Amino acid sequence: MSIDLREHWWIGGVEIPGRVVLAPMAGVSVQAFRRQGRRYGAGLVCSEMVSVAGIQHRNERTLGYLRVSADEHPLAIQIFGSDPGGMAEAARMVEAAGADIIDINFGCPVRKVTKTGAGATLLDEPERAARIVAAVADAVDLPVSVKMRRGTENGSRAALSVGPRLVEAGARTLTLHPRSAKQMYTGSADHALTTELVELVEVPVIASGDITSRAKAQAVLATTGAAAVMVGRAAQGNPWAIAEILGDGGEPTREEVVAELLLFMRETVRELGEQRATGFLKKFYGWYLGRGRFPRPFKQELVTLPTLDEVELRLLAAAPGAREVLERLEAEQPDPQDEVLLDSLPISIYGGG
Ligand SMILES: Cc1cc2nc3c(=O)[nH]c(=O)nc-3n(C[C@H](O)[C@H](O)[C@H](O)COP(=O)(O)O)c2cc1C
Repeated sequence: MSIDLREHWWIGGVEIPGRVVLAPMAGVSVQAFRRQGRRYGAGLVCSEMVSVAGIQHRNERTLGYLRVSADEHPLAIQIFGSDPGGMAEAARMVEAAGADIIDINFGCPVRKVTKTGAGATLLDEPERAARIVAAVADAVDLPVSVKMRRGTENGSRAALSVGPRLVEAGARTLTLHPRSAKQMYTGSADHALTTELVELVEVPVIASGDITSRAKAQAVLATTGAAAVMVGRAAQGNPWAIAEILGDGGEPTREEVVAELLLFMRETVRELGEQRATGFLKKFYGWYLGRGRFPRPFKQELVTLPTLDEVELRLLAAAPGAREVLERLEAEQPDPQDEVLLDSLPISIYGGG
């Protein structure tokens, strides 16, 4: 029997209109990515992990991650850090920025993060992890969720002992990516552990890891009892994966692929500025145009072009019909005036005033 992936569910008081969640991914989950994910049917989208230290120091780039657009709700903003007080302060700013859910990162395996006592290392420090969740839950009215790996070491079952403690401390949802931190992205996600976690806690569990197709999503939901699946790498440059998982599948035409890429490029320039966007976008060319959609030399050529204008021209030359699709997509975008931008954050966020 197939599971209805459009079924609504709840994280605390926030209604989530669907059981496919777009994963937080550092260097990927910009606003344009999240808005696109919502357009293709993701019930919930997440920011990439935002440094609490960066928020506290009013780092301009970090504050940029707190921009929320009108058409991305429901949105979780994810924070990482190791100090309960600092996490609570950052959570209040995330709430003021307009997020619907505060997500806490206890999963990042990258040394730069774990050596500061944040990310996946907190699974080895359940006491501190619980204090962080309690401090954040006390500080805000929004529901708090936690995203974690199975543990730090291969074969670890730490998530099963830490998870319930975090729920006691106030987490209203747990996301499990059942790989160890040591594994990084090797091997496969062991969703047998997700099944065990679902049995241990009363709150909804989101299953993350290796969800690449409708069949896989259905199988993981059916066997684990999770409330939702999270899609990460499969959706990089590929919002059609979300539609396919929801059952609206169909490979996009070349024109649709190019139009979505062009819209993504324009939105990213608006968000990051031309200079940052130029470097940021390079990895997306391969992601969009790969999967057998365009020949490899074409993707390689795009990466070598010096300006985004030239990339646009080259893309439109390869798929002239994309212009019309792009115009339609742009016409459907909400008026930028509807956006909640940084200006609406409390003045204290700027440090000076
Ligand atoms: C490039 C990249 C960046 C990621 N950044 C984050 C992050 O900022 N926060 C987080 O909780 N997980 C992050 N993840 C993990 C994903 O959210 C997800 O749990 C993982 O990729 C497994 O799902 P998948 O197999 O669908 O990709 C990242 C993964 C990738 C590939």
